[in-house]
Amino acid sequence: MSQEKILLTGGSGYVGSHSCVALCEAGYQPVIFDNFSNSSPKILDRLEQITKTKITLVEGDILNFNQIVNVFQQHNIKAVMHFAGCKAVDDSVKNPLKYYRSNVSGSINIIDAMKVSGVDVFIFSSSATIFGDLNVNPISESATFSPKNPYGKTKLFVEEIIADLFGSGCFSNLAALRYFNPVGAHHSGLIGEDPKGVPQNLMPYLAQVAVGRLSKLEIFGRDYPTKDGTGVRDYIHVMDVADAHVATLDYLLSNGGYLPINLGTGNGVSVLELIRTFEKASGHSIPWSFGPRRKGDAAEYYADPSLAKKKLGWSAKRNLDTMCSDMWRWQSENPHGY
Ligand code: WQD
Repeated sequence: MSQEKILLTGGSGYVGSHSCVALCEAGYQPVIFDNFSNSSPKILDRLEQITKTKITLVEGDILNFNQIVNVFQQHNIKAVMHFAGCKAVDDSVKNPLKYYRSNVSGSINIIDAMKVSGVDVFIFSSSATIFGDLNVNPISESATFSPKNPYGKTKLFVEEIIADLFGSGCFSNLAALRYFNPVGAHHSGLIGEDPKGVPQNLMPYLAQVAVGRLSKLEIFGRDYPTKDGTGVRDYIHVMDVADAHVATLDYLLSNGGYLPINLGTGNGVSVLELIRTFEKASGHSIPWSFGPRRKGDAAEYYADPSLAKKKLGWSAKRNLDTMCSDMWRWQSENPHGY
């Protein structure tokens, strides 16, 4: 049992909280550092119900260097999983400076605090949006970077910083995990995706229509060059993403190195396919209508997951039915979120 302490910045958020559960199950001790700008401290009780262990949660901001250093001084942190940051594409177009400050300066703050504290294992929460609209599916790690919005650019900039840190020899245990489309929830229904305001992403929007919080889904575009004309994405269960974080941590602690890895299932699913699967899982029909394309959306996007399998021995295990049924359990048992 390792009991090594792992710092999760943004650990009360969607992917962070599910990774917290996976870490506990693997025998690690998560320490959550969060400013609750896009999450709720109420999640702590739920996490402790699931993991049956006490979880340390420190309220703080990644833009406050001293707060971060204090956490390293209070806890013997072995590694950092850096989830904290802003993640709404639309918002990043309207408020780019907020994204560069939080996602780039905030990440530099964390790395600086690690350096002065002698911690050198860093796993960065990156995104497939660094690849932009490539039309070269499946997307592997050798695909060209071409982010189309400030959010995606911030993720790429931090990845470049990580690569340079590794190249300089400053750090020798680094990973950048590029999530395709994390969806679903822990099978207990106790934790899940709880976006503030009207959801920008398809799955939480679908779930809120099914539970009656929203009236109808608008499908953004029906004329894409895809199997049925609607957008195709690589939806991956959030617990599979969480398990990939543990596999990456185990790998870095044993082998070290620099690991930029795409995290997807390798399957492309259209909007209409997701709607049908979600209706089956929830037992609710989803009212929808076609609307115009959303600016900046790609037609089709799915991963080549082979490097994760080769390097980490990890691949996604949970299928689309499970993603939808776990999402529905969370949403129907928590109609208004936390
Ligand atoms: C999926 C498909 C839409 C909403 C996001 C962001 C970012 C990233 C995850 C982390 C598309 C369609 C959506 C709706 C719709 N997170 N859609 N009606 O666009 O792949 O991007 O991926 O990095 O949050 O980059 O995900 O869920 O917004 O859209 O028709 O109300 O659903 O057009 O085809 P996307 P999404």
